[in-house]
Amino acid sequence: MNYRALGRTGLRTSEIGFGAWGIGKTSWIGAEDDFSVQALIAARDAGITFFDTALAYGNGHSERLIARTFGNSSELIIATKVPPKNHQWPARSAVPLREVFPKDHVLQCLKTSLTNLQRETVDLYQFHVWSDEWADAPEWFETLREIKTSGMVRFVGISVNDHQPTNVLKALSTGLIDSVQVIYNIFDQSPEDELFPFCRKRNIGIIARVPFDEGSLTGRVGPDTTFPAGDFRAYYFAGRRKREVWNRVQKLIQDLGLSIDELPALALRFCCSHPAVSTVIPGMRTQEHVRHNVNSVLACALPAETLRRLRSHRWIRNFYAPSPSLVDKLRRKVLSQRNRELTTV
Ligand SMILES: NC(=O)c1ccc[n+]([C@@H]2O[C@H](COP(=O)([O-])OP(=O)(O)OC[C@H]3O[C@@H](n4cnc5c(N)ncnc54)[C@H](OP(=O)(O)O)[C@@H]3O)[C@@H](O)[C@H]2O)c1
Repeated sequence: MNYRALGRTGLRTSEIGFGAWGIGKTSWIGAEDDFSVQALIAARDAGITFFDTALAYGNGHSERLIARTFGNSSELIIATKVPPKNHQWPARSAVPLREVFPKDHVLQCLKTSLTNLQRETVDLYQFHVWSDEWADAPEWFETLREIKTSGMVRFVGISVNDHQPTNVLKALSTGLIDSVQVIYNIFDQSPEDELFPFCRKRNIGIIARVPFDEGSLTGRVGPDTTFPAGDFRAYYFAGRRKREVWNRVQKLIQDLGLSIDELPALALRFCCSHPAVSTVIPGMRTQEHVRHNVNSVLACALPAETLRRLRSHRWIRNFYAPSPSLVDKLRRKVLSQRNRELTTV
């Protein structure tokens, strides 16, 4: 395992970290705690030192599993997140900070996370959504001051809204934020344009999330793939999207002359090829995935020619927003309901 600086924090993190959303069990269906614990142990044994979780992942279940597995070992870097009080992912514009991150809510969530994690201090505490409209709010400065001086938090980060890598630059300019977590993968390369140079200049840590585009960049999402009821990916890959990602992935592997099995390694190596990235955090629910992913990044940076080719596979879109066919379906449902009501009247 190779290790990198997490910005100016003085912490050194493994190049690959552990994304612990999936083991929280609520949005990703099918995780089994025993397998999740095995995956966490395999990760630590392979040299992974960075674990990214959140209070929102299974309402603390992901945090509690990490504590159950590692106790309060001080050798690992544990990053968690404060959920928005209004439960809105992503943050919307024109919603005041007091509705999303009022100080008492942030402090209350922090205490709950520490109880779940069985720790007195969390290494990195991240805002789980962000809007740069809040960057000059006096209450936010007060909250930052209080959590930093409380001794409960070592460093503070922001996890930016999906596909909005620049909607954080004002907050970063305050000098009070130590790291940024951002979607960065072969499809969404946009953080390279402004965010990465900005952070390199200021020595701010970068945590690259969703390296597999929620699974499409593992090559395991095809036109006929189905997901269990309630699984977040049934929504993310709704309607024509499975066909679209499959076509993109086929073009990608043909262009690079790869087999589909080589895709996960390519996806991870792409992320850690950028020098601004401190750690890349694939979601992992089995020890097999952990071993495969750790082995993939042993030879981390991709050759310049491969990176040049990958530039043309940028794909700007937002699958976290409802798919047009889903919106259509909902609209039809509402209309037919209204017609039924009118007929009844
Ligand atoms: N707003 C935020 O702050 C936010 C949002 C999203 C994610 N995150 C963080 O970023 C992390 C990563 O994102 P993510 O988990 O959503 O998505 P991801 O890393 O793009 O994809 C994770 C999924 O890929 C599959 N996978 C992993 N390794 C594989 C391998 N070697 N071969 C084949 N398939 C493999 C697994 O699916 P199966 O388990 O089904 O096989 C895994 O659950 C999260 O866990 C979380 O920590 C943060």
